[in-house]
Amino acid sequence: MNIKDKVVIVTGASSGIGEATARLLAKHGAKVVLAARSKEKLSKISKELPGSLVVITDMTKEDEIKQLIRKTKEHFGRIDVLINNAGQGYDAPIEKISSKTFRNLFELDLLGPVMAMKEVIPVMRKQKRGMIINISSGTALMAIPNMSAYSSLKRAIVGISLTAREELSKDNIRISVVYPYITLTDFEKNTIKDGIEEEEWENDDSDLRPGDSAEYIAEKILEVIKTEEAQVYAHEWMKDRR
Ligand SMILES: NC(=O)c1ccc[n+]([C@@H]2O[C@H](COP(=O)([O-])OP(=O)(O)OC[C@H]3O[C@@H](n4cnc5c(N)ncnc54)[C@H](OP(=O)(O)O)[C@@H]3O)[C@@H](O)[C@H]2O)c1
Repeated sequence: MNIKDKVVIVTGASSGIGEATARLLAKHGAKVVLAARSKEKLSKISKELPGSLVVITDMTKEDEIKQLIRKTKEHFGRIDVLINNAGQGYDAPIEKISSKTFRNLFELDLLGPVMAMKEVIPVMRKQKRGMIINISSGTALMAIPNMSAYSSLKRAIVGISLTAREELSKDNIRISVVYPYITLTDFEKNTIKDGIEEEEWENDDSDLRPGDSAEYIAEKILEVIKTEEAQVYAHEWMKDRR
C-alpha cells in the first residue's frame, strides 16, 4: 500500500515505537490518528504533525476503542491502516505471576487489539481495502525466563493475526505482524515486575544483542505497509528462533 494520504490509526502513539511510527508515517504523507491515554503528550506530538487527529483512548476499554474507530471514520471518512501498538511488559517467574496483573495485561496486549480489529474490519470491508498491523515481540519467538506471561500474549496475537489474514484476504484486508527486538523506549521502565529484585533485572546482561531505536522499528512498520507481508522481523536472525 502506498502510504501517501492514507488514514492511519496508531495506538500507543504517545511514546516509543508508536510515536516514532506516527512521526515517520506523517512525514511520508499519511493522515495519522494518535491514540493513547496521555492527553498532553499526544497534543504536543499532534501540533508537530499537521492534519493529525488525537483521540484519547484507553485500549482496555471497549467503549473507548469503539469511539476511536467512530471518531476516525467521522473525521476522515475512511480508515486505511490500524496499527495495534499500545502495550506493556510483565516480568515475573511463573510462580510469582499475579492473576490480577496477568488479566490486566490480557486486556491491553491481546483483547484491546482484537476489539479494535473487530470494530475496524466492517469499515475496511465497505471500503474494499484495508490493513491491520499488530505489534508482537521477539519474545514470542523465544523462551526467555520470567517473560512467560507477556510472551504468551504476544504469541497469541500472532495466532490471531495469521488466522485473520486468511479469513479476510477475500475482503482485500491484509493483516500483518511485526516483531520488534529489544527497542530503546520507556518499555523496560513501564514493564511491571513481580518477584524480581531491581538489581536482578538491571544487572541482567545475559547474551542479548544491543537494542534498536524506536525509529528503526518505525521503518520496519513502514516497510510492512508497503510490502503487505504477513510477518516482518526487526532482524533476519529472529526468523531462526521460531
Ligand atoms: N521496547 C521493546 O523492547 C519492545 C520489544 C518488543 C515489542 N514491543 C512492543 O512494542 C509496543 C510499543 O512499546 P514501546 O517500546 O513503544 O513502549 P512504551 O514506550 O512504553 O510505549 C507504550 C505505549 O502504549 C501506550 N499504552 C499503555 N497502556 C495503554 C492503555 N491502557 N491504553 C492505550 N495506550 C496504552 C502508552 O501510552 P499512554 O501511557 O499514554 O496510554 C505508550 O504510548 C508494545 O506493544 C510492546 O509490547 C516493545
